[in-house]
Amino acid sequence: MGLIIFGASGFARECLTWVLQSKQYNVKGFYSDDAKRGDKIFDYNVVNALPKHWNAHQFLVAVGDPAVRKYLWDKALAIGLKPCQPIINPSTVFGINVSCGPGTIICPGTVITTNVKIGAGVVINLNCTIGHDCEIGNFATISPGVNVSGNCKIGEFAYIGTGATLREKLVIESESTVGMGAVVIKNVPKGEVWVGNPARPMQKSLPGTENLN
Ligand SMILES: CC(C)(COP(=O)(O)OP(=O)(O)OC[C@H]1O[C@@H](n2cnc3c(N)ncnc32)[C@H](O)[C@@H]1OP(=O)(O)O)[C@@H](O)C(=O)NCCC(=O)NCCS
Repeated sequence: MGLIIFGASGFARECLTWVLQSKQYNVKGFYSDDAKRGDKIFDYNVVNALPKHWNAHQFLVAVGDPAVRKYLWDKALAIGLKPCQPIINPSTVFGINVSCGPGTIICPGTVITTNVKIGAGVVINLNCTIGHDCEIGNFATISPGVNVSGNCKIGEFAYIGTGATLREKLVIESESTVGMGAVVIKNVPKGEVWVGNPARPMQKSLPGTENLN
């Protein structure tokens, strides 16, 4: 079956390797809104409009940002493409009863234990651990080296930054962000950005106030 990869960034190039290693699909090329005539990734064309004969293929959106991933996902559906089966690197270790939605990619080095439900369009990047009884919502991103303890629920469009650690039984609500290296010990409310150890809502300095007492 043919596959079109949506996205043309470094992550898309990484995903090309994982797709080829999975041996599930024959990659036809890449799609990017910003592609210019003649753009290539290795030997593959990058296009900003799909040739008609590509419409019978499936798609993977290989973009780290959950909102951009959904934007490209909807675009691919509108063209008439179908999301691919989950792309699961052969190095992934699974326990019993793990389910995974379409268009999800699991990069090398991850361990997913038992009773784990992973939605559609999810990215699980390199070297993560996902404990028992976790749920990961549609279009969530789990960056490299994240450790999710058991019984956690990660909402749709949540973004968990590199190296974050989640205590057991937490809810990371939809559209929220956990910064790189955060140690999360409380639930993260919808749409908030939490950083640090222990993780707290991110405070942004107001521009121009650096020198005020
Ligand atoms: C949390 C995050 C989204 C914030 O990004 P941002 O909105 O651009 O924030 P800024 O860089 O302007 O930083 C705002 C403040 O938060 C602090 N901060 C940012 N990220 C932090 C983190 N991960 N841990 C602790 N503090 C952090 C900054 O030091 C800054 O503090 P200051 O205002 O006192 O100087 C980002 O830093 C992050 O962690 N992204 C995840 C990246 C990642 O994992 N990528 C994976 C690629 S595969």
